[in-house]
Amino acid sequence: MIPESFIQELLNRVDIVDVVDKSVPLKKAGANYSACCPFHNEKSPSFTVSPTKQFYHCFGCGAHGTAVGFLMEYQGLSFVESINELARMVGMSVPQEARDPDKPAPKVVVGLQDALQQAAQYYKAELKKSDRAIEYLKSRGLSGQVAAKFQVGYAPAGWQNLQSVFPNYDNEVLNIAGLVVENEQGKRYDRFRDRIMFPIHDQKGQVIGFGGRVINADDTPKYYNSPETPLFQKGHELYGLFLARRAIREAGRALVVEGYMDVVALAQYGIEYAVAALGTATTPFHITKLMRQTDEVVFCFDGDSAGLTAAWRAAMNALPALTDGLKLSFLFLPKAHDPDSYVREFGREKFEAEIKAAMPLSQYILQHLSENNTLQSQEDRVRFLNEAEPIMQQINAPRSAMYLRKKVAELAQLSTDEMQSLLKLPNLNKVPAKARPKLTRTAVSLQKRFCLMLLMHPALANQEDLLWIDDHAEEGVLLRQAIEICLQHPHSKLVVLLRELESRVQATVLRELERELSALDETLDLTQELMGARQQLQDAYSHRQQALLLARISEKPLNSLTAEEISLLRSVGSKPSQNRA
Ligand code: UTP
Ligand code: MN
Repeated sequence: MIPESFIQELLNRVDIVDVVDKSVPLKKAGANYSACCPFHNEKSPSFTVSPTKQFYHCFGCGAHGTAVGFLMEYQGLSFVESINELARMVGMSVPQEARDPDKPAPKVVVGLQDALQQAAQYYKAELKKSDRAIEYLKSRGLSGQVAAKFQVGYAPAGWQNLQSVFPNYDNEVLNIAGLVVENEQGKRYDRFRDRIMFPIHDQKGQVIGFGGRVINADDTPKYYNSPETPLFQKGHELYGLFLARRAIREAGRALVVEGYMDVVALAQYGIEYAVAALGTATTPFHITKLMRQTDEVVFCFDGDSAGLTAAWRAAMNALPALTDGLKLSFLFLPKAHDPDSYVREFGREKFEAEIKAAMPLSQYILQHLSENNTLQSQEDRVRFLNEAEPIMQQINAPRSAMYLRKKVAELAQLSTDEMQSLLKLPNLNKVPAKARPKLTRTAVSLQKRFCLMLLMHPALANQEDLLWIDDHAEEGVLLRQAIEICLQHPHSKLVVLLRELESRVQATVLRELERELSALDETLDLTQELMGARQQLQDAYSHRQQALLLARISEKPLNSLTAEEISLLRSVGSKPSQNRA
């Protein structure tokens, strides 16, 4: 455990400009620094680093965060590793919080994230104790090193082992996290029992779910996964992405496979850029997520018929996400092989040669459509066109679409014009060449703006600010926390304050605030702006108060009103209703 006070101190000392500049050379651009974004491919710089906010932000892909976040995203480090790295950079040594060895650390579940993290640690520790589980992993050829890298664990047999981790085993959080299940009598037991555990991480490296594999070949189901939870949506997450990010950038490509074991085995053989969809079809979300990291994606599914079906579905799901800059291809393994068995049998070099020779998407589409169709008769060609039409309709990337249309027309023995006039295909001239979705932004509320400016100038926070907050507004809660933090730490840097805020407000609220922060115009005189916003908020408060007062007075019988109250009513032009008198 690193003491919180140390982290605060460290963040106050670190300069994000130095941190980023070490990996991504920055150029001064006005008040900020800029570079081509390291998180997506681009030719002109839309990545900026702000020394005053101590934040980076990319206007192209929306990536943003602090120095710690940068190290986590760019170098694929965990939070603790990032803190260590930052400490090293500024020459501080990281103290460890001493813990009384006789007293186990208090383990009270506070949130989903926390529960999953603690469970992962428990499973990992249990693996060390189980010869049977270790033996199984060895029999699969897994090295201890790679098992550690993927934080592979073991959920022991037995019904309520997690009780030893969570004394409050009844807590609803464990249910929501998918760590326990309840039977019809309402009795709880552990979801994962006697299974090898693969923790699933989100982009920040936090555990959001698990996949658990049986050890006995006869047990079913082979894999049991966490259910969908507020943190875990299968159609959005990719197993192994957090660990693979660096390798994806270095290799310039990502490999999508089917299974947990495939990702792990490939990594062991030095192919560290593989990720897996979690027992679901590859979705457009998956593709878009990968496109943020690379512009080449290779799909490699098992060599059985299920693998072929999965490949075709992946191809179809990728269509709406295609851009002209993206290269998708498909690698088909021999029957009876999956990436795991293939790399073990033939090694990295042969596998990578196969990857390089993978079939481009366009070729795959044409091959698939003409697989059971000789295109000999007119009827065959009509069927071919019918099947090609919905596919072509979904491709918005103009160049890729045009070449595919040309090919389809050729095979159907039509001219492109004839085919165009026949089919309902989108007009490619109307599609913008750059199909990168623009981040839509809505107007920032005054409360939020005030909150942001205050966090940048905490010394300007005022005890009185707490008085006029509108607690009924969603943002009032956020603002109250922010003001309290600023009052406590008037000389801290923004990053430190945000971190403090992190423990008090919902993660989504904070993320939103950070995004707004990136867009905040620093060239304005923020002190001036802050005073202006405060005045407006105070005025709004006075209006609310007045309205309340009026409402209260008009409820009263007329003859009980004081002179003051009557004059107040007059001043706003409303007369007390006579019938209530
Ligand atoms: P595979 O059966 O190909 O598993 O399923 P695998 O990863 O190669 O595992 P080994 O080699 O048999 O140990 C591919 C993926 O489909 C999901 C899992 O995500 C698995 O990794 N799956 C499979 C399930 O969710 N449940 C199952 O019962 C089977
Ligand atoms: Mn397998």
